[in-house]
Amino acid sequence: MPLAKLQITNFESHQNTEIEFSKGLTVIIGEPGKGKSAIVRALKWLLYNNLPDTGFIRQGCKQSIVKVFLANGYIITREKGPQTNRYLLQHKDSDQKEYFEDVECKVPRELTALHGVKVVYFDPDLPVSLHLEDQHEGPFLMLQPDSVRLKAIAHICNGDLFDKAKDETANSLAALREQVKMLNRQLDFLTCLHHKERKITSLQKKRNEIVRHIDSLNHEIDLIVQTYSLLDQASYQALRRACEKVEALVTHALRYVFSTDLEFRIQIHEFGTKPKVQFAVLSNLGYFVTTYAPHDTRNRAIVDLISVMLRIALLEMGPSPLPGPLILDEPGRCISGKHASYFGRLLKILSDQFERQIILVTRDHRLTGSADAVYVIEKKDGRSLLHYRGNSPRVNCDQFSYT
Ligand SMILES: Nc1ncnc2c1ncn2[C@@H]1O[C@H](COP(=O)(O)OP(=O)(O)OP(=O)(O)O)[C@@H](O)[C@H]1O
Ligand SMILES: [Mg+2]
Repeated sequence: MPLAKLQITNFESHQNTEIEFSKGLTVIIGEPGKGKSAIVRALKWLLYNNLPDTGFIRQGCKQSIVKVFLANGYIITREKGPQTNRYLLQHKDSDQKEYFEDVECKVPRELTALHGVKVVYFDPDLPVSLHLEDQHEGPFLMLQPDSVRLKAIAHICNGDLFDKAKDETANSLAALREQVKMLNRQLDFLTCLHHKERKITSLQKKRNEIVRHIDSLNHEIDLIVQTYSLLDQASYQALRRACEKVEALVTHALRYVFSTDLEFRIQIHEFGTKPKVQFAVLSNLGYFVTTYAPHDTRNRAIVDLISVMLRIALLEMGPSPLPGPLILDEPGRCISGKHASYFGRLLKILSDQFERQIILVTRDHRLTGSADAVYVIEKKDGRSLLHYRGNSPRVNCDQFSYT
């Protein structure tokens, strides 16, 4: 659900800030220290409720309040003060108010269902804020273990369903094999008895029954082995197809922004039971692997773009697109010169094409060129102040097609 408006009261450098968002691309631009990231943190507090401490309450004030107006008329308020730590839900056409008290770090499900933003788990121990990129987060997915990268790509093709089906098939197989083992032991025992007491026909009969049972179980095992192998092939094909979709999207973005023959590839190798998943870029100058090393500043602009595009791919290309806005703090920091203008245009095009609301804060004026709404942020007397600077001409979306 798009966010229509944000009101921030006494949160970090914001005393009373109001921003009306476009349904497309909203850019907030300002110099360092003016309170841009504070807007992202205010949104993060309301949408994810996971700010580490209460240092966000504006100096000299007792209470912070952040209010989001959703495009469907619902209004969600997050407030924290000496006596309160709660959410409040209202609708603009009703006087009814619903409070969610003492929420600690959880977001009530009723609210998540309304705005659509929630933590995603590609790994049970690793919550990912897919909708919101912090300023100092590092390239998306590139610092994660290979297994998480693999699960993230597999999310696009319902990989967890394949995994579940394969696990259940493997469990049935193990149970059947155990049963056959047990029956074989019984058979050995009966054979032994039969040798000792040759004339007992009931033993012979029992043996024959067990042999028939083992045959039918073995037949079932053969079928399950074939099913497992088909599932394995299908999940591999689905994963390959997911990789191709992401590769096509990222490759087109690279070519759009950098105007060269760059090509993005996802390389998956199995080493024993451990997968190795690398993001690679091919260019006419050669080939480099982008799975990111923090101290490697080579090609950082390319890494920055891939990072944003992977986030967009995961939001858009799953079994169904994940609703909610995409919020970016200083995306594409290392993309410079005319490439930065193209990056701004690309975000606008992607927002139009996927009908995805994008809200970004940046120091780089080149990212404002194609936005639907632009705000400039300044700071006066320790207070952040926002000015609406209008909207920009539309970009021709025909220039970007990746399927
Ligand atoms: N609790 C608070 N009360 C008042 N001001 C605060 C509080 N917490 C942080 N600030 C102020 O907010 C400002 C930081 O704002 P923010 O991090 O949003 O800047 P920014 O515009 O994102 O800068 P940059 O471009 O460097 O990322 C600082 O000037 C800091 O002093
Ligand atoms: Mg900042």
